Amino acid sequence: MAKQDIFNTLLKDFKTYVSKTHTGEEAMTYICQRIYEELDTYDWVGFYLVSKTEDKMLNLGPYVGEHTDHIKIPFGKGICGQTAESQETFLIDDVSKEDNYIACSIHVKSEIVVPMFHNTHMIGQIDIDSSTINAFNEADEIFLKEICSLISPSIH
Ligand code: SME
Repeated sequence: MAKQDIFNTLLKDFKTYVSKTHTGEEAMTYICQRIYEELDTYDWVGFYLVSKTEDKMLNLGPYVGEHTDHIKIPFGKGICGQTAESQETFLIDDVSKEDNYIACSIHVKSEIVVPMFHNTHMIGQIDIDSSTINAFNEADEIFLKEICSLISPSIH
């Protein structure tokens, strides 16, 4: 199946899933698992959420993939922290060329991090790592943005 067809199928399933009564935590867990299973180049899939108690801090939420020690990331640090600070998507074709990067695994070659908003308020982000170089493009960004808008009302 073409990647865009997989995106469309997944988004349809996610809409159905969130329309039933599920918590934000359950929705994030379900989404991580499905994306990880269905998309070959998505090798680590997770959410980081903006801390409600600590200033300018991200806390690791549900994820699927290799264990990570990075359960807290300050704004500005690594790709995730830079995404949080700028509130813009970071699409990294080759992580080895990044100075401000936090390595979670030696296998990671490319990464995309998309901020998640509720209304205009940034509440977190979705982070995808790939062991393939250049794994992501704008179609991935659009797909991930749609996921964020879909689930943010149940998370904020
Ligand atoms: N690579 C990220 C850290 C999070 S892990 O990929 C799970 C970064 O540079 O912020």
